[in-house]
Amino acid sequence: MLQLNPDLSDLVSDATKGLLDRFNAQATVTAAAPGRVNLIGEHIDYCDGFVLPFAIDRHVVIVGTANGTREIRLATALNRQTVIIPAEEPVERGEPTWSDYLRGVIRGFQDRGHVIPGFDAFILSSVPGGAGLSSSAALECAMATFLEGLLDTVLDTKEKALLCQKAEHDFAGVPCGVMDQFASAFGRPNRLVLIDCRSEEPELVPFENPDLTVIISNTMAHHALTDGGYATRRKQTEEALAILGKASWRDVTEADVLANWEAMGDPVNRRARHVVSEIARTVAAAAALSRNDFETLGPLMAASHDSLRNDFEVSCEELDVMVDIARSIGRNGGVIGSRMTGGGFGGSTVTLCESGRAAEIAEILASRYAEATGIQPQIFASRPAMGAHLVG
Ligand code: GLA
Repeated sequence: MLQLNPDLSDLVSDATKGLLDRFNAQATVTAAAPGRVNLIGEHIDYCDGFVLPFAIDRHVVIVGTANGTREIRLATALNRQTVIIPAEEPVERGEPTWSDYLRGVIRGFQDRGHVIPGFDAFILSSVPGGAGLSSSAALECAMATFLEGLLDTVLDTKEKALLCQKAEHDFAGVPCGVMDQFASAFGRPNRLVLIDCRSEEPELVPFENPDLTVIISNTMAHHALTDGGYATRRKQTEEALAILGKASWRDVTEADVLANWEAMGDPVNRRARHVVSEIARTVAAAAALSRNDFETLGPLMAASHDSLRNDFEVSCEELDVMVDIARSIGRNGGVIGSRMTGGGFGGSTVTLCESGRAAEIAEILASRYAEATGIQPQIFASRPAMGAHLVG
């Protein structure tokens, strides 16, 4: 059975109750921002590539109100703890870790000259954490949108997404690309967000075919040992580009990679091969999708996964098992394509399939994965949802 996504209005009403319970306050501002799933274009947003994510209907909701004090007070359903941040000083990093995503965004507003008043806020999320579905970008974009509401100001959407990306860099210490924050900020119902990461311009691409379903399979695996793997991959791509002597990956061809294979050495040369081939695959996949050419799209998704596993080495056993199950169901069983999605080292896979077979496919993915690994996965479908917005 396909899990239903929690209704956004239920999340909002639970968060509103949380605010009342913890601060005895009524919400005057309610903001919601979604997580994302990426159909194709992995680990190339920081390489001037193209990526094809969409906002999922799982959200971070922040409800709150000005409190007339000099303190920002943040609470979540996680525990009874309240995080207190002085509102009048430039906000710095602090404890607990989740608050850094929010602190970084508040600081981004302060750096733009905004005076932040004291406020109380309650935060709830239906985006699974550590699942490669951008729960952190959702947290950042929800806070940025909440502050827009609180300050009665509107940031340009691109500026807002970049402010959130900077928060992730400076406060969470992850040198991420622009994909997650752009997907969370620009997402629209029935639209994919095709992002040209060189110009940082998103294009909304129709995804309306009711016969297509996107299944997200959270493997529940998160390999802490590989933390830092993301930053290492990013460094290796920079090293490769320097050896290739090019200003941008968009100017690099497969022939360039082969000509510099020895000079780059292993594993940098394989990282380079992934980047160049994944950029080409993503462009081809967006074109294939626009003409409903699934026989081209499926193999592109498969090749993307293989390249991430073999050349970029960001997959893991659990992701490979989940993708292999989808592959074994195959085109005849209604699966168009399947691959890991997001940063990797655990997290989720994305499977594009025929809607009529989706429930059955989800059953098979769940049962065979549990059989193979002993882990119960979390499997749900999502259509493209609305990006970060104020509610009500
Ligand atoms: C994480 C990062 C993104 C992107 C993906 C991999 O989600 O935050 O910027 O690099 O990994 O595609």
